[in-house]
Amino acid sequence: MSISLIGRSIGESVTLKLNETFAILKAKGEPVIHLGGGEPKSKAPIDALTAITAHLNSGEVRYAPVDGSVEMKKAIIRYTMDHYHRQVEPENIIASSGAKQALMVALQAILNPQDEVIYPAPYWVSYPEMVKLCGAIPVPVLPEDGSFTPRLSDIERNVTSYTKAIIINSPNNPTGAVYPASLISEIVDFCERKSIYLIMDDIYHQLTFNGVKAVNVFDHVKDFSENSKLIIINGVSKAYAMTGFRIGWGIANKRLIKVMANIQGHQTSGPSILLQKAAIGAISGVQSSIESLRTTLENNRSVMIQRLKAFEGVRLIEPDGTFYAFADFSAYEKDSTKLSKLLLDKVRVLAMPGVEFGLDGHLRLSYCGSIKDITEGIERMKWAIDPNSSNELYIGERKLVRDWV
Ligand SMILES: Cc1ncc(COP(=O)(O)O)c(C=O)c1O
Repeated sequence: MSISLIGRSIGESVTLKLNETFAILKAKGEPVIHLGGGEPKSKAPIDALTAITAHLNSGEVRYAPVDGSVEMKKAIIRYTMDHYHRQVEPENIIASSGAKQALMVALQAILNPQDEVIYPAPYWVSYPEMVKLCGAIPVPVLPEDGSFTPRLSDIERNVTSYTKAIIINSPNNPTGAVYPASLISEIVDFCERKSIYLIMDDIYHQLTFNGVKAVNVFDHVKDFSENSKLIIINGVSKAYAMTGFRIGWGIANKRLIKVMANIQGHQTSGPSILLQKAAIGAISGVQSSIESLRTTLENNRSVMIQRLKAFEGVRLIEPDGTFYAFADFSAYEKDSTKLSKLLLDKVRVLAMPGVEFGLDGHLRLSYCGSIKDITEGIERMKWAIDPNSSNELYIGERKLVRDWV
C-alpha cells in the first residue's frame, strides 16, 4: 500500500484513542472516571435547540454559503462587537465546521511547504499535526523559566526566515494559563514589525476565573489595514457547551478570508445550515448559560486545586482559565504515558498524558465533569501512586489491592 509522506507523518490522536478506550470500558460496566474530557457536560442553550428545531421542521435543509450564512455572519459581527469591541465586516468572517476547521483552512491559506509555525508549549495536540498537514514545520516553544507563560524572548529565539505564523492560545489548553496583556502586546507588536501571521486561538476566552480576563488582542493592534496578518479563531464549542454542533469561525483580512473560503468550498462546502442556525440561536439568545457554566467550572477548579495540593509530590501551576489543570507528577513517574496507562488499568481513572501536549511528567486533568468524579478520581489516583497510602481500596464492591508500588 502506498501512503503519502504527509499521511504517514500524521499521528493518531491519543486523546481521541483514550476516549475510545474509556467508552469501551464504560460499556462493559467498569467503574471508570473520566478526568481527561475536553467538553463541558452542561446542555446546549435552549435558544440553540429551538432555532435548529424550527429550521429542521421547515424541511428546507440545503447547502449553506461556503463562508457562512448572512445571518451567521451577523451573529458573529455582534459577538465580536460584544466581546472584542470591534466592528468587523461580513467579508472579514468565515464560519467553519468547528474552530478546528477555521484554523485548518487558515493554515492552508498561508503556509507553504517548509514554512515554520511557532506556538508555545505545552500546546493543544492538534497544532503540530495541522501544521504538518500543510507540509510545514511545527516549532513548539517551551518557556525557558519552567512556567507555562512564555516570554517574547522564548518566541524570538525560535524565529527564522521560514517563520510564517505564531499561534497563541490563551486561555491555554492544556495548562489553563491566561497570558498577560503585556505579553500579548509584545507579540502583536513583534508580528506586526516582522510581518508574521498571528493566529489567536480564542476558543476558551470566556472561560476564565477569579477575575482574570482573557486579553482582547484588538486592544494592542496598530495595523487595522487590509494587510493585517492577524487571524482570530473562535466558536461555540466550549463556552456554549456545543462541541457536537461543530461551528467555529475565523476573522481576518478580506483577501485572506476569500482564500480560506475557496479552500473550504472544495473541502466541505459551508458548515451545515442546521448547525449554523443553532449557533446563531446560542449567540443571539439569552447568555446566562455561559456565566452558569463559568461559575460551575470555577467551583470545580477550586475543588481540583485543593485536592491536588493535598497530593504530596504533585506540583501545579494553578489554571486561570479553560477547564484543565496541567499537573506535574514527575516526582512519582516521569513517563506520563506509562502513568496514564497505570491509572486507567489499575484504578480506572482516565488522565491525559502530558507528553501528548509537549511536556512529559505531567497529566492533563479536566474539571469539566462532576465534583464527585473530581474528588473520587483524585483519591483513586493518590491511592494508586502514593507509596504511603494504604494497601487496599474499595471501588464500590470491588476491593483493590495495591501490588505495583
Ligand atoms: C485550543 C483549542 N482550539 C480549538 C479547538 C477546537 O474547537 P472546535 O470544537 O470548535 O473545533 C479545541 C478543542 O478542543 C481546543 O482545545
